[in-house]
Amino acid sequence: MTAQADLQMSTALVTGASSGIGAAFAEAYAARGATLVLVAPAESKLEEVAERLGTRYGVDVHAVPIDLAEESGPDQLAKAVAETGLEIDILVNNAGFGTRGPYHELSADRDHREVMLNVVAVERVAHLFLPAMVARGSGTIINVSSTSGFQAVPYMAVYGASKAFVLSFSIGLWAECRPRGVRVLALCPGPTDTNFFEALGSQMSAGGRLRTTDEVVAAAFRALDRGQAYVIDGRLNFLTSNASRLLPRGLVARITERVLRSGSLAALPGAAPRSRRAA
Ligand SMILES: NC(=O)c1ccc[n+]([C@@H]2O[C@H](COP(=O)([O-])OP(=O)(O)OC[C@H]3O[C@@H](n4cnc5c(N)ncnc54)[C@H](OP(=O)(O)O)[C@@H]3O)[C@@H](O)[C@H]2O)c1
Repeated sequence: MTAQADLQMSTALVTGASSGIGAAFAEAYAARGATLVLVAPAESKLEEVAERLGTRYGVDVHAVPIDLAEESGPDQLAKAVAETGLEIDILVNNAGFGTRGPYHELSADRDHREVMLNVVAVERVAHLFLPAMVARGSGTIINVSSTSGFQAVPYMAVYGASKAFVLSFSIGLWAECRPRGVRVLALCPGPTDTNFFEALGSQMSAGGRLRTTDEVVAAAFRALDRGQAYVIDGRLNFLTSNASRLLPRGLVARITERVLRSGSLAALPGAAPRSRRAA
């Protein structure tokens, strides 16, 4: 079945579904007729998305407000899904955020939550649903990594490392799961027009066009149809991510450090946040 096919008998679980890329995945799956299980911490925002998609597409939507950065988050999610009686056919492990600044000055608590959400929850939530997918011989997992996963990112060191984990983890699962009928994809967006930069709480310089969330979702669906292990959204992001892989890692990190120290994100692969996010 292609990623674009009718999904009326399928259930898609999307984490971080209340805004940005997660909300775009939720809408794309609702448009294909899938039942949705949507997860995010802020209940009112999540309910709003759930109600809008349920009304617009006539699909069942379960809003599950859970903080996945908490140790107990994945277990709460398992319990909530069990209570719906649904089997999860599609998992979009999307929830994540970044922190930015010199590592020694950042909040240790916030960095810890970043690792819990971007790394630990991604792995634990995959564990919740992959065994049943393998047993059924079908299913899809999309783990949202980033172009930042391809190189070390000074001043966003925890974020870059967390996305490198997601990339490597996903490609490993992709190879394991291919012969078992389960598709796994690492989705690597570059700078995309979402609330990510507000959540990052940083001041960034102006640049070119941000990618749209619809473009990111379309790239993921194309990659799933082609059976790819990972996909970098956008041609410029593809070129810069791959260029950085050809150079020595230390050199790339030093150049990136110099540019990011000045407050620009231009050194990130494909990075070019536009001026409304800049200051
Ligand atoms: N935008 C980009 O440029 C970009 C580029 C590469 C990769 N990514 C990745 O794309 C993913 C989605 O980010 P986005 O750009 O769409 O940003 P976003 O608009 O800020 O969306 C983040 C989503 O994650 C949810 N979330 C935050 N903390 C959570 C927690 N503790 N537990 C559960 N859900 C939580 C948010 O819910 P609340 O609103 O309730 O907090 C929101 O639904 C992230 O993994 C991010 O790293 C983004």
